[in-house]
Amino acid sequence: MLLVVPAEIRDNEARVAATPETVKKFIAQGFAVQVQAGAGHGALIADADYEAAGASIVKDAKTLLKAADVVLKVRPPEKFEIKLLPARAAVISLFAPFTNPLLSDYAAHGLTCFALEMVPRISRAQSMDVLSSQANIAGYKAVLMAAEHYRRFFPMMMTAAGTVQPARVLVMGAGVAGLQAIATARRLGAMVEAFDVRAAAREQVESLGAKFVEVPVEEDAEDAGGYAKEVSAEYKQKQAELIAEHAAKSDIVITTALIPGRPAPVLVTEDVVKVMKSGSVIVDMAAGMGANGVGGNCPLTELDKTVIKHGVTLLGESNIPSLVAADASQLYARNLLNFLMLMSDGEGGLNTVQEDEIIEAAVLCRGGEFLKPQFLKGGKA
Ligand code: NAI
Repeated sequence: MLLVVPAEIRDNEARVAATPETVKKFIAQGFAVQVQAGAGHGALIADADYEAAGASIVKDAKTLLKAADVVLKVRPPEKFEIKLLPARAAVISLFAPFTNPLLSDYAAHGLTCFALEMVPRISRAQSMDVLSSQANIAGYKAVLMAAEHYRRFFPMMMTAAGTVQPARVLVMGAGVAGLQAIATARRLGAMVEAFDVRAAAREQVESLGAKFVEVPVEEDAEDAGGYAKEVSAEYKQKQAELIAEHAAKSDIVITTALIPGRPAPVLVTEDVVKVMKSGSVIVDMAAGMGANGVGGNCPLTELDKTVIKHGVTLLGESNIPSLVAADASQLYARNLLNFLMLMSDGEGGLNTVQEDEIIEAAVLCRGGEFLKPQFLKGGKA
């Protein structure tokens, strides 16, 4: 079978779905691999590197896609890409299933699509978990972005001209992105505090040398899958009071709170921004995921923009992993390889119909049939 790797076409997408390392492994499994010219440039991979790994380079997307048996992508295929693909093709990519308006088009064209963000967070699937690998990178980079915009030091500095106090960082949501943000801010010498609705997060936050801010309401909002679930009105009220109190003392706020499939909760209201110190920085990692795609964990956040509101700088970058495209691509490509290996027959073929909970969780449509009707509402990909 022929695996193809097109260049990503979305704005601000520098990642690529395969690297020379994964290409070699696909070829060892009996697949042929074609890569679009320039596909790896944003991730610092030259066409010659892919060729050295055994892939052939194809100049234009049209020729590449028309011949594809399996397409490896980062962002969901666009309408014109769907039209170019043979109906027999399988696509492995992120599909943004909660918001993607093209889901029924993929099925109608006959494609078999696997959405990597639907891979369950279970031990066996850890090596395929793109949400974790990319959120980890994003949490790290979010802190560096904040440091870049903050006009003071992160660490405590004892100089001949006097002592400078360390920055105070508040992280909201201590999942994958939040924990990496905490670790990175600590490495830079900041004092760090963190909130999370899941009681299990306390130990992880504390093990990184940060302080866990507890909401004094007896409630644990962790569901059976380890994700957060909606909290009660009483919890929200108490949490809001605590956030206002702690944000007012913070220099940097990093928000990462999200419940899958729901609009991002508003944690930093405009009133909270007003009480924050002038020159503070908020990195809203849920940018664009507020109700109706507006705002994020802060309603003042503007998608993919840096704005200053009430003296506070708000960063709303929606694709932070792409800013670290070389490593983000390497990890993404390995996740994708590990997923594809579940279906590889070792002789260049792919068995897409199997009783495997990981494959079944990820498959959106197969042979013209849409298999996850809960996503068929539409919106913005
Ligand atoms: P995760 O599911 O591992 O972590 C989210 C955390 O937020 C969980 O620990 C959850 O308990 C917590 N949370 C949920 N509601 C909360 C609330 N009301 N108060 C306090 N904590 C709450 O998710 P992950 O992978 O860490 O991603 C976090 C966020 O970062 C998501 O919004 C994700 O889409 C976003 N993200 C953004 C990127 C960007 O480029 N802007 C890149 C990667 C992830």
